[in-house]
Amino acid sequence: MEDSLRPEAVSPLFRGRFGHPYIYRPSCPSTQELVRGLGEGAVASCEQQTAGRGRMGRAWISPWGAGVLFSLALEPSTPPQQLPPFGLVVAEAVCEACWPDAQVRWPNDVVVAGRKLAGVLAELREGRLVVGVGVNANHAPEELPPGARVPGTSLRILRAAPVDRAQLLADIVASIEARYAGFERYGFAGLERDELRGRRVELAGGATGLCTGVDEHGRLVVDGRAHTSAEVTAVLVCEDAREYHAVEAEAECQEGS
Ligand code: BTN
Repeated sequence: MEDSLRPEAVSPLFRGRFGHPYIYRPSCPSTQELVRGLGEGAVASCEQQTAGRGRMGRAWISPWGAGVLFSLALEPSTPPQQLPPFGLVVAEAVCEACWPDAQVRWPNDVVVAGRKLAGVLAELREGRLVVGVGVNANHAPEELPPGARVPGTSLRILRAAPVDRAQLLADIVASIEARYAGFERYGFAGLERDELRGRRVELAGGATGLCTGVDEHGRLVVDGRAHTSAEVTAVLVCEDAREYHAVEAEAECQEGS
């Protein structure tokens, strides 16, 4: 069957409570809006978004039919003040379903060897949570965003073979469903696949320090100080930061010359 996220390809693969209803649009502004107001477990996906968004108002751009782009509606009984670490729980679920060595780069990136494979966007409105996931699945190298702060990769590049996106979508939803049940019951149990723990990091604004991991509230601990994702817009691993700033400086020189 042609690789597609149409209901006939995806719906038979859902194996739990989530994925019902399943809403599919070939193109839409953002899947985040398609599930808003729907009951827990509703999933919406598309081939392309015209106004896809990431964290901190950034755009999420993915060419037609290349990504796994979806949103999931949740109605957690966990109080809103305890929900911030849930984005990490989802990112870890995405890691598990996508790639054995994938890790979470706080607060919402899924990376493999320092390259971004996927992103998670958790939006809370009036007690309802909409979790959006964007995975670089069948992207060719030239389809990844150039000059990104965290350079990208895709599953197709990692596997050297195309991916069955319908199966991947169903696997990610199943992994989120299992981890959501644990989170609702026991709360945030910490981050296992933590890319930043034990590394020197640079926070947006230029401060650097040693990261000792994520605390019980999902905050990033650097030099003993806990940071929320609202305070820190981005984090770089120091070795990558040197490379990123060199590219930035070169671009500035070229602009100025
Ligand atoms: C990030 O890395 O900042 C998060 C990216 C989240 C992108 C997904 S794609 C499906 C859903 N719809 C959106 O508009 N955003 C999320």
